[in-house]
Amino acid sequence: MSAGFETRLTTIADLVEAALEALLSPQVRSGEVRRPARLLAAMRHAALGGGKRLRPFLVIETAALFGVKPETAMRAACALEMIHCYSLVHDDLPAMDDDDLRRGRLTVHKAYDEATAILAGDSLLTYAFEVMADPATHDDPFLRAELVRLLALASGLGGMAGGQALDLEAERAETPLNFDEILQMQSMKTGALLAHAVEAGAVLGRASATQMNHLLRFGQKIGAAFQVADDILDAKSDAATLGKRAGKDAERNKATMISILGMDAAEQRRDQLVDEAIAQLHALDLGARTDVLIEAARFVAGRQS
Ligand code: IPE
Ligand code: IPE
Ligand code: MG
Ligand code: MG
Ligand code: MG
Repeated sequence: MSAGFETRLTTIADLVEAALEALLSPQVRSGEVRRPARLLAAMRHAALGGGKRLRPFLVIETAALFGVKPETAMRAACALEMIHCYSLVHDDLPAMDDDDLRRGRLTVHKAYDEATAILAGDSLLTYAFEVMADPATHDDPFLRAELVRLLALASGLGGMAGGQALDLEAERAETPLNFDEILQMQSMKTGALLAHAVEAGAVLGRASATQMNHLLRFGQKIGAAFQVADDILDAKSDAATLGKRAGKDAERNKATMISILGMDAAEQRRDQLVDEAIAQLHALDLGARTDVLIEAARFVAGRQS
C-alpha cells in the first residue's frame, strides 16, 4: 500500500467519522420526537470509532473520478456505512454468528443487550434511507430516488440480508454448498454492499452506461475478493490483529472459499479477482485517475484486518 493511498484512506475515514458523529448526535432533529439515550449510545457504539470505512471510501473515490467533491458524496457514503454497521450488529447476534468482539470492542449485544442490538441495527438501517432520501444528499430528486432504490436492492432480500440467510442455512445444510452456491451467497452477503459503493459513486458522477458497466463489474470483483480475503484472515490471523474473533468459520461449519477450495486455491482466487477488478478499471480508460481504485483493489487482498 503506497503512503499516498494510506493517507487518502485515513483522511476520508476521518471525514466519514465526523459526518457520522454529526448524524448520531443527541440533538433531536425536525420530525423526531426524541432520541432515546441508550438506543442512541448503542448505535454510536456500532457506527463510530472503528472500521476501515472502505465502503464510504469507494463511494467517494468513484464519484471523484468524475470530479464530484468528497462533501457532495459524503451523505450517500454515510448511508451505506450505516447499513454496513447495522449488518455487523445483526451478524454478531447470538441467533446469527454469536460473536463477542467487533472492531476490537465488545459487540453491541454484549455491551448493551440483545433487544437494544436488534433495535440499534433497525434504527441504523432506517436512518440510512432517511439520510439518502433527504434533499441535503443531492439537489436532483431523481438521482436521490435512484440511490435509494439501489441501496435497497443491495441491502435486502436479493442482496445482503438474503445472502446472510443463505450463509446461515449453509451451516446446517445436509449437503455442503458447491462452489457456485458459495459464490452466489458471498456475492449477496458481502459483494452487494461493496458493489453498491462503486455504483453509488458512479450514479453521483453521472457515469455513462459503459462506464457504469465497467465500474459495477469492478465493484462485484472486489466484493468477491473481499469476502475471500475475510475467509482467509479468519483462518490465518488472530483476534488481536483482526479486532474480531478468528477461527470461527471452521468452528461454525461455515461455507467459505476455503472450505470448498482449500487455502492455496482460495488465495489464488482472491488475487485473480483483484486482477480482474483492475482490468475493468483499465477498460474505463481514465488514465491515472483510476490509480486510487487500483490501489483500493490491492488493499482488499493485502489487508491485515
Ligand atoms: C466485515 O467487513 C464484514 C464482511 C463483510 C466480511 P469489514 O472488514 O469492512 O469491517 P470493518 O467495517 O472494517 O469493521
Ligand atoms: C458478514 O460475513 C457479512 C455481513 C453482511 C455482515 P462474516 O460473518 O464472515 O463477517 P465477520 O467475519 O463476522 O466480520
Ligand atoms: Mg456471518
Ligand atoms: Mg460474522
Ligand atoms: Mg468472516
